[in-house]
Amino acid sequence: MALTIDFNLATRAQVGPAGLERTDFAGLSASLTQALDALDHAHERGALQFMRLPQDTAAAQAAIVLGKQLARDFDELVVLGIGGSSLGGKALFAALSHPLHNLVTRKQRSGGTRLFFPDNSDPSTFAALLDHLDLSRTAFAAITKSGGTAETWAQLLEIHRRLGAEAAKRQIVAITDPTKGALRSVAQEHGWATLPVPPAVGGRFSVLTAVGTLPLAAAGVDVAGILAGAGAMAERCRTRSLEQNPAAMLAAALFLFDTRRQRPLHVLMPYADALRETGDWFVQLWAESLGKKKGTGFVGPTPLRAVGATDQHSILQLLMEGPQDKVTVFIAAAAPRVDLTIPKGFESQPDVRYLGGHTMHGLLSAEQQATSAALAAAGRPSLTIRIPKLDPFSLGELIMLWEVATGIAGTLYGIDPYDQPGVEAGKRYTCGLLGRPGYEEAKAELDARPKPSPDWIL
Ligand code: PA5
Repeated sequence: MALTIDFNLATRAQVGPAGLERTDFAGLSASLTQALDALDHAHERGALQFMRLPQDTAAAQAAIVLGKQLARDFDELVVLGIGGSSLGGKALFAALSHPLHNLVTRKQRSGGTRLFFPDNSDPSTFAALLDHLDLSRTAFAAITKSGGTAETWAQLLEIHRRLGAEAAKRQIVAITDPTKGALRSVAQEHGWATLPVPPAVGGRFSVLTAVGTLPLAAAGVDVAGILAGAGAMAERCRTRSLEQNPAAMLAAALFLFDTRRQRPLHVLMPYADALRETGDWFVQLWAESLGKKKGTGFVGPTPLRAVGATDQHSILQLLMEGPQDKVTVFIAAAAPRVDLTIPKGFESQPDVRYLGGHTMHGLLSAEQQATSAALAAAGRPSLTIRIPKLDPFSLGELIMLWEVATGIAGTLYGIDPYDQPGVEAGKRYTCGLLGRPGYEEAKAELDARPKPSPDWIL
């Protein structure tokens, strides 16, 4: 059983004028073929590598072995990283581990460490975490592809101070560029264990490298299963028969909704708590890859994330009756990992009686179907990604599907989906504000701005 995408409720036949037709897709067929060729060529000449990661068994094995060793030697693993160096691992960890992983016994977490992704340099959460952990039983994965990210270094410097140089040697693993950057230099100089992030894999495309696989292996997640699913999806996404290519169709549909149907807001709405963080990962991937300057203009859809059924009591009202500028991508798992039959009870209450005997997953599933049908009845399009189960194979498929779709969408939008110059501009100002040598010009630019008026501060 494989992941499928149901486009029915995105079609004109189902939702009227907001929907797409075969001719819309046909109009993109040359660009889609060009996008697939560009992906292939970039992989062949080594400029890109993310679609080939599932075949890199040596790299996967090195991360799995080191991850398992950490699980033998330590009780906890803390990932120091941000953006693409954190979100993918965090998403797969949430999707595939016990929902209360950090609270249950080691046996219930498949022998893995507890796993934490502070994911920010907010001192209140970071200090609280460090104060809570027994640092002598904790390993740290310092993850930064560039090797110089301020938030990650702020965390790492504090960890290093608390551990001391000798303990740091045993307890820190550095995951970074194989040859360049501050983290690589420090790790080499101080004898920390290291694993590489391949230079041809961008941060937000790196979850299937050691960036994701080491922490996941340490926590007891089945990394080989994830890679198998990702590899199967990468293969499916290579076909030039576009109607058979899930990533090409997904990228095309969302591109068409943005540029031909004035629906630039793309809402990912999984019906599973386990996929909440997958929503965060998607938002970063879609936004940072596609939100770009193009010539003298600007392009890019705005991704949002919601979770069913929770957000039926929140954002759904806006999706149903707000501006006609959104398309929703549901994710539905056919089978839950665990289910509960809702007991019968209080049968005199019509509001309650009908629930007894259904399962909770059945309720969730009915709500997903009902929501997509209600949107369609209101002329509002959606797509549904169906996975057979919340298991490593399906999650591997899902990750690769979105990564390839992002690469293809980059070509359709006519931008480079692998850079992030806008983010770099903010980093430059931060360095200027913090007095980093070489950033004097950035500081001068900030100082030259008009002085804030107190009239606008209440
Ligand atoms: O996708 C990206 O490239 C970014 O989101 C990076 O992952 C993020 O800025 C962190 O960068 P680094 O891994 O270099 O610390």
